[in-house]
Amino acid sequence: SDPRVEHAASLIRNVPDFPKPGIQFKDITPLLGDSGAFEGVIDVLAESAPAGIDAVCGVESRGFLFGAPLALRLGVGFVPIRKPGKLPGTVVEEHFDLEYGSSVLAMHIDGIQAGQRVLLVDDLLATGGTLCASGKLIHRLGAEVAQVQVVIELADLGGRANLATCGLNEVLALLQTP
Ligand code: PRP
Ligand code: MG
Repeated sequence: SDPRVEHAASLIRNVPDFPKPGIQFKDITPLLGDSGAFEGVIDVLAESAPAGIDAVCGVESRGFLFGAPLALRLGVGFVPIRKPGKLPGTVVEEHFDLEYGSSVLAMHIDGIQAGQRVLLVDDLLATGGTLCASGKLIHRLGAEVAQVQVVIELADLGGRANLATCGLNEVLALLQTP
């Protein structure tokens, strides 16, 4: 496999019982702190993107870390999908369920245009709730999600199948666990 992906994998730290008991947290800070490894991840994601991408949407907050450099690398604009109350313009919003409770994501309605091909980026795919809601925002503006890209997929949580129910069928994960 790609040595850049191997290097990245070696720099993701498993933290047991964070942020709560029973959760194994994937800490990407060692990866972000290594410029060569970080650049390698952005390069592999850029090389894996479909042709004709018009914009990159990244999901607050960890999706910003990968989405923004990826947009620069692809030569397209970056559009943030944010937690509520953060964007000053007119927004579309999607409510979604979390393991405990619920959350909201929002995007400026003029961030992307109908018919555009969007690359949707986050650090991690777990249940898929976050990316499903993000995909719905993009679809509501008449744009297409050409591909979803994540660095890590927790493959035993069914996130990929959940994304398919939201019309997100193209999903690229750099690393899959377990
Ligand atoms: C984490 C992670 C993904 C999401 C994945 O974000 O960064 O965005 O959870 O979970 P899901 O597939 O079950 O929806 P979190 O909400 O913890 O916020 P953060 O990115 O601001 O740290
Ligand atoms: Mg997140």
